[in-house]
Amino acid sequence: MSEVWKNPDYVKRYNNVYGITEEQLDRYMAPLKLEAGDALVEFGCGNGEALARALDVVEMAAGVDISKDQLEQARKKLAGKKNVLLLESSFLHCRKLLAGHLFTKAMSRKALHHLTDSEKPVFVESAAPLFKKGAIFVLEDGIFDFDKSLLNEKLPQIIEEAKIYYGDSWAKIEKDFMITVLEEFMTDYPTWESAFKGGGFELIDRKAYSMFYGMMAFKKIR
Ligand SMILES: C[S@@+](CC[C@H](N)C(=O)[O-])C[C@H]1O[C@@H](n2cnc3c(N)ncnc32)[C@H](O)[C@@H]1O
Repeated sequence: MSEVWKNPDYVKRYNNVYGITEEQLDRYMAPLKLEAGDALVEFGCGNGEALARALDVVEMAAGVDISKDQLEQARKKLAGKKNVLLLESSFLHCRKLLAGHLFTKAMSRKALHHLTDSEKPVFVESAAPLFKKGAIFVLEDGIFDFDKSLLNEKLPQIIEEAKIYYGDSWAKIEKDFMITVLEEFMTDYPTWESAFKGGGFELIDRKAYSMFYGMMAFKKIR
């Protein structure tokens, strides 16, 4: 599914329909408690909205994204900002490109669910050496608050909740939502926790904003 992000029209529509609001940025970034001395990386940085806000605070920030078009927009948004690194790479191959950096914070929003469940632990283990002990990793994404094996059974309930959660936007996003739930690789909280544990991270916070969307915060303990 990463292929769609190489299509400029898809990217344009995504940013038009799903452009992140100030409130969404507040909720996503608050758990990071960014500080001036932080070195931050964002996986799936998209058009750079969150990096732009982070760079008002942190010492340096890097963004990884597989989409040339998203990075092009991020480059424009971040023009003039210092100490920013934008890398065109898949999540699974970015470690080599980031070698030499030691990050204190990481964030990812609506992006890591593109990794299959077998790729999730591989990604975390591969990225782990890029983080200092004590580093915080905030993941906000489509995450099920029930065992992923129950997805078919829960689908009618998910759709009912999504209609309320998205309100007036539902008609516009219904098709994308169903693709994300059924064809991408959203999973449940324990699957993510286990993937992060394998890379030396412990869960320090978790919030379900709905039965299909939430956040998890991890701390690197070794
Ligand atoms: C749904 S967008 C989210 C963008 C932004 N984080 C936001 O909250 O609006 C997902 C982003 O992840 C990127 N992406 C998807 N699969 C990827 C992969 N395997 N490796 C790197 N980036 C990927 C896409 O190019 C896209 O910019």
